[in-house]
Amino acid sequence: MFNTRDGQRAAEGIRTTYRTFEVNSLTPHIGAEVCDIDLSEPLSNEQAQDIHDAWMDWKLLVFREQELTREHHKAFARRFGKLHVHPMQHQYRGDPEILKVKTSADSAYTAGDGWHTDVTCDEIPPLGSMLYVTETPECGGGDTLFADMCLAYELLSEPMQRFLGGLTAVHDGALPYVGSYKSKPPEGGYPRNEHPVVTRHPETGQPVLYVNRGFTSHIVGLSGAESRALLDMLYRHIDSTPRLWCRVEWRPKTLTFWDNRCTQHHAVWDYYPHGRYGERVSIVGEARPAA
Ligand code: SIN
Repeated sequence: MFNTRDGQRAAEGIRTTYRTFEVNSLTPHIGAEVCDIDLSEPLSNEQAQDIHDAWMDWKLLVFREQELTREHHKAFARRFGKLHVHPMQHQYRGDPEILKVKTSADSAYTAGDGWHTDVTCDEIPPLGSMLYVTETPECGGGDTLFADMCLAYELLSEPMQRFLGGLTAVHDGALPYVGSYKSKPPEGGYPRNEHPVVTRHPETGQPVLYVNRGFTSHIVGLSGAESRALLDMLYRHIDSTPRLWCRVEWRPKTLTFWDNRCTQHHAVWDYYPHGRYGERVSIVGEARPAA
């Protein structure tokens, strides 16, 4: 749909100027705020290509002060592909393409409160997600952390990179949706699929560490103890390396757009008993994650 740049970063850093806008980076390698764009207006092809390019460069884009209806939100997402229907939608009423992300004093959990990549239990997980937050906790808090999984791979030693390169892992929807959220599975159960532990980003070609605490149940072919130890080591690498992260501080009317093929995120529930509300639209991926 979009022309892909070669994805190589210039030695002096990632660019911040595009043909139709500029961005302000949140860290040197992940996350940028896009200036001067109104997502409620139809995008020109040039603007859409620039957003795509900035998204490839920065992995996570933040758009502030957007007045969006659901139709605007979905129309923007459709510029990047078909809309995804979340596996837990079978138990919700309402628009199947809109995932409500609502937390109040009565919530038993907050969706995404732990490092994960969205819906990796699917055979073809979403390629990206757009979360539009309209209510933030009045006391502050409720930020979302994002992690750069290309850098996570890059920071591993070469012997570890080589070892992981031959492995596949099982990603099981029952883990979060039943285990954490206590939801009733649909007929036939939640999706469960295998993906390589190291994938290659289909557009930039960069290697990606592709296991996540939310969905990955085990590594195929290892003993239970070996698989647990290896996954725990990789999760600790993500948990304990702030250099991988970028922090989005939400203000009402902020939309973020993340590349689900090379990031993880963690919605921080540090605002109980206050509330937070947003709606997420995800975009269907184009192919199975591949090594
Ligand atoms: C999610 O998409 O996992 C929720 C993220 C958030 O609420 O910040």
